Amino acid sequence: MLAIIGGTGLTQLDNLNITRRLIVRTPYGEPSQPLIFGEISGREVIFLARHGNGHTIPPHEVNYRANIAALHLQGVTEIAAIATVGGIHPDLSAGKIVIPHQIIDYTYGRKTTFHDGISNPVKHIDFTEPYCQTLREKWKRAAIAVGEEVVDHGVYAATQGPRLETAAEINRLERDGATVVGMTGMPEAALARELGISYATICPVANYAAGRGDNLHEIKYEEVISNLNLTMVRVRNIIAQLVKQ
Ligand code: HPA
Repeated sequence: MLAIIGGTGLTQLDNLNITRRLIVRTPYGEPSQPLIFGEISGREVIFLARHGNGHTIPPHEVNYRANIAALHLQGVTEIAAIATVGGIHPDLSAGKIVIPHQIIDYTYGRKTTFHDGISNPVKHIDFTEPYCQTLREKWKRAAIAVGEEVVDHGVYAATQGPRLETAAEINRLERDGATVVGMTGMPEAALARELGISYATICPVANYAAGRGDNLHEIKYEEVISNLNLTMVRVRNIIAQLVKQ
């Protein structure tokens, strides 16, 4: 079973024929919303809006463990995630679409593991390659099939939010090797790996990060979000193609 986790700008999938909604409780609490079962391109998938239906849950308050555990309980083996980002690399302006291959985690205070020594014994998973290569390839093939150009690599910096970064913080992330920045990439990817779920993310770039491009002194987030809608139309086409693979 394939699940799609939608982020900012993708709280609903218009091309999903919804068949049922399921409230799920997990030992870690409730997911961001009832799981939405439906069909896209003739295939059954589960959709989950990471920030809840009305986008009411900020990145640092998302119950990532409940989200991933709820999908796992429904037999999900593959998660195609969408995570909106700011572009750090000069090539990654608004409207670009990136399939990252690496992550650096700058978040703090989030519940990052199922193996906390309380619910489950301590365990150290391998995370050398944080994303599933096969699923990354599927994202790429789907994009090409619908005529969308994607950048097929990138280093995702996961920041705590909900505030945007300072220009100096973005400089630091760049020195660390990050090319895009977002607030939700972690611990989601690591939790999926802990449960053996294949996981890969596609990242629509909503804006240049702080201090980059035209954002030398300020980022107007409302403008960012309105621009994002256009990119999300393209992302929805890619998703409709991805589920056929
Ligand atoms: N920073 C962090 N997260 C984001 C940004 C950003 O500039 N844009 C969209 N998500």
